[in-house]
Amino acid sequence: MSIAQILDRMDYGPAPESDSEARSWIETLGAETKLFVGGQWRKARSGQSFETQAPATGEVLVRVAQAGPEDVDAAVKAAAKAQPGWAALSGHQRARYLYALARLVQRHSRLFAVLETLDNGKPIRETRDIDIPLVARHFYHHAGWAQLMETELAEREPLGVCGQIIPWNFPLLMLAWKIAPAIALGNTVVLKPAEYTSLTALLFAEMCRKAGLPGGVVNIVTGDGGTGELIVNHPGIAKIAFTGSTEVGRKIREATAGSGKALTLELGGKSPFMVFEDADLDAAVEGVVDAIWFNQGQVCCAGSRLLVQESIHDRFVAKLTARMEKLRVGDPLDKAIDMGAIIHPVQLKRIRELVDAGTREGAQLHQPSIALPEKGCFFPPTLLTNVHPASTVSQVEIFGPVLVSTTFRTPAEAVELANNTAYGLAASVWSETLSLALDIAPKLKCGVVWINGTNMFDAGVGFGGYKESGFGREGGREGLAAYSRPRWMAKAKPIAEKRAPPPSGDVISTGFIDRTAKLYIGGRQVRPDGGYSRAVLAPGGALVGEVGEGNRKDIRNAVEAARKASGWASATEHNRAQVLYYIAENLEARSAEFADRLSAMTGKRKAEAAREVAAAVSRLFSYGAWADKFEGAVHRPPLRGIALAMNEPVGILGIACPQEPGLLGFVSAMAPAICAGNRVVVIPSTTLALAATDFYQVLETSDLPAGVVNIVTGDRDALAVELASHEEVDGIWWFGNAATAAKIERASAGNLKQVWAETVQRDWFDLRQGEGTEFLARATQVKNIWVPYGE
Ligand code: NAI
Repeated sequence: MSIAQILDRMDYGPAPESDSEARSWIETLGAETKLFVGGQWRKARSGQSFETQAPATGEVLVRVAQAGPEDVDAAVKAAAKAQPGWAALSGHQRARYLYALARLVQRHSRLFAVLETLDNGKPIRETRDIDIPLVARHFYHHAGWAQLMETELAEREPLGVCGQIIPWNFPLLMLAWKIAPAIALGNTVVLKPAEYTSLTALLFAEMCRKAGLPGGVVNIVTGDGGTGELIVNHPGIAKIAFTGSTEVGRKIREATAGSGKALTLELGGKSPFMVFEDADLDAAVEGVVDAIWFNQGQVCCAGSRLLVQESIHDRFVAKLTARMEKLRVGDPLDKAIDMGAIIHPVQLKRIRELVDAGTREGAQLHQPSIALPEKGCFFPPTLLTNVHPASTVSQVEIFGPVLVSTTFRTPAEAVELANNTAYGLAASVWSETLSLALDIAPKLKCGVVWINGTNMFDAGVGFGGYKESGFGREGGREGLAAYSRPRWMAKAKPIAEKRAPPPSGDVISTGFIDRTAKLYIGGRQVRPDGGYSRAVLAPGGALVGEVGEGNRKDIRNAVEAARKASGWASATEHNRAQVLYYIAENLEARSAEFADRLSAMTGKRKAEAAREVAAAVSRLFSYGAWADKFEGAVHRPPLRGIALAMNEPVGILGIACPQEPGLLGFVSAMAPAICAGNRVVVIPSTTLALAATDFYQVLETSDLPAGVVNIVTGDRDALAVELASHEEVDGIWWFGNAATAAKIERASAGNLKQVWAETVQRDWFDLRQGEGTEFLARATQVKNIWVPYGE
């Protein structure tokens, strides 16, 4: 072909990347891969293995070992053995290892990129320019946290052995997201890559050896979901970090319930891509390409739901379908390819079936007239227009290159549609009017918002979901909380509780003078639905008073009242501070009365009871002080732009207070939650409930909007489990016995609400244990709003 002809056609020629080095490396693995345990390669004792294929060709690359019970046990033991020594190193010493790993990844970056492309099928352009550089960035960033841990996280310590289970869509990147923060803070890990994509994890294990990482700090066991289950259920593991499907995430929540294991889940998504009529439409079209055709759409935060303002819909779709014709799908090792192969025939089948379901439900199908390779696992870029927001393809995560589109008329409608999903991972907002975009961003129920951009990631900017997209953050300062705990916890004793006596069965008095404290729901004192009361007794058995016996219906009413009080989340911090100070002031005005009551219920001396009331007043002042100071951050990721880390309330929190101290425990749990803008349903101590019911009048006189604090008295354990299974409750806190904690964790799996189940004793009078940022961090979830700038 002459130069004139090439210029005339302006077509791409093939630009294949050589895979010979990667193939030579695969050959070194032998007939079957080994496991990386205690710094050594060992053959799987299970004797089992499976094939891993190149999705672009279907060719078998190698057989991968399937770790069995004995193998996982050996890995956990190696990690446990290594952990104390690793944690005892100075932050600087650990930082040097992470730094070495970052350098090694960079030095071998092309081998990693080609190997990832072979094993996963994603374009080399992406592995080379996105996955691998981000992996290195993650180790550099967390080398920094290792270095700074002794000063910046002086009050925290590592958790122990972390089990980490990752998916196939970003194999090495997910490994980095998991391993870097864990080992930076002194934990050791047992990591399982996804069964389709084990190879870069094995190459990474080689880097660990090259870096001289002490044996057992990083252990890599390959295998399928069965191996994952073995990790999840292993008693030697302190924390599970999982990325993958919501379905498996839910199973893991159930399996870990009551085990005492910490848990973070990064699950699926159905993220909206919102285009307003004043958007730069050409830029937005390129945005769509990155949102849904990056990594063949196999991205948890893929912008898979296109919401376009009605006035520009036809124009936008015309531009988009024209752009689709120019996308190049094919050999992922070709540097000029936009879209590579789908991970596996199983996934391809699933995508096909969902697209068929979409067209059956009335959607219009748009696919470009481009040729796909004859062999391998490929699917064309696909757009479904005219989809109903309730249709299958609008609700189900397709995890493929399939975009579904709907229109909206007003910004309010756009927000409603965007939030109309069980997921809440990410969103993309396109508008040239920054004030509009920044108004929309806080209204979206998701963990990441990109303004005029999409799929931006950085180690310094946290990532994670709301709702059924999971909980916990990876990256950023907030990500460190998931791999550490307060130092005092190591010596804390388990909470031992006596089972509370059953309700007295007395029917609530209907006489003229009703001395039974009622429930507090929606700003009013209401009779319990069941009409029963419960006696509150002095230690000697004398009746101090009666409280209402709340039931499931009361919990439902309280949650409903909390739902209606949504304005509290957007009240100004100044306003919340004022209310908290006012509550404190009103409590103080009645301190003698509260002290008397505490003294009667506990048998403690007056002075001691007065000390508790004073501590409660001080605690309320503390959260009044914090209200406008727990502020979030402005990140400067390596691009022209910023990411605003906003501390948003979790939503509706169910809080089961510690049994003791009655008043201080109640205030210490309730105040940080409302300080952060949550609405709460509080279940006070069963035995000391009158401390909370006396509080109604304090709340009533303190300008707190109705429904922000709702209080249901009764059997605390049963009511807490009720709250944990309520679909509209977003998070639950439990300070009590381990048996009920297990029930709560199990019940929470329905809507995957966040659970803070603490089963060890805290000294509520101690300022470091009883209040502060630990509570506020639990009361908030970080939303990162990316605002790139430039013309
Ligand atoms: P998956 O959730 O089954 O697999 C993710 C990881 O969990 C893998 O390492 C797997 O071996 C492991 N695993 C599976 N069952 C387990 C169990 N019971 N206990 C412990 N570990 C277990 O995802 P899969 O089957 O690969 O993909 C299915 C669907 O999940 C996709 O179509 C997609 O919708 C979604 N998905 C979402 C991802 C995300 O990043 N949010 C990543 C991968 C898949």
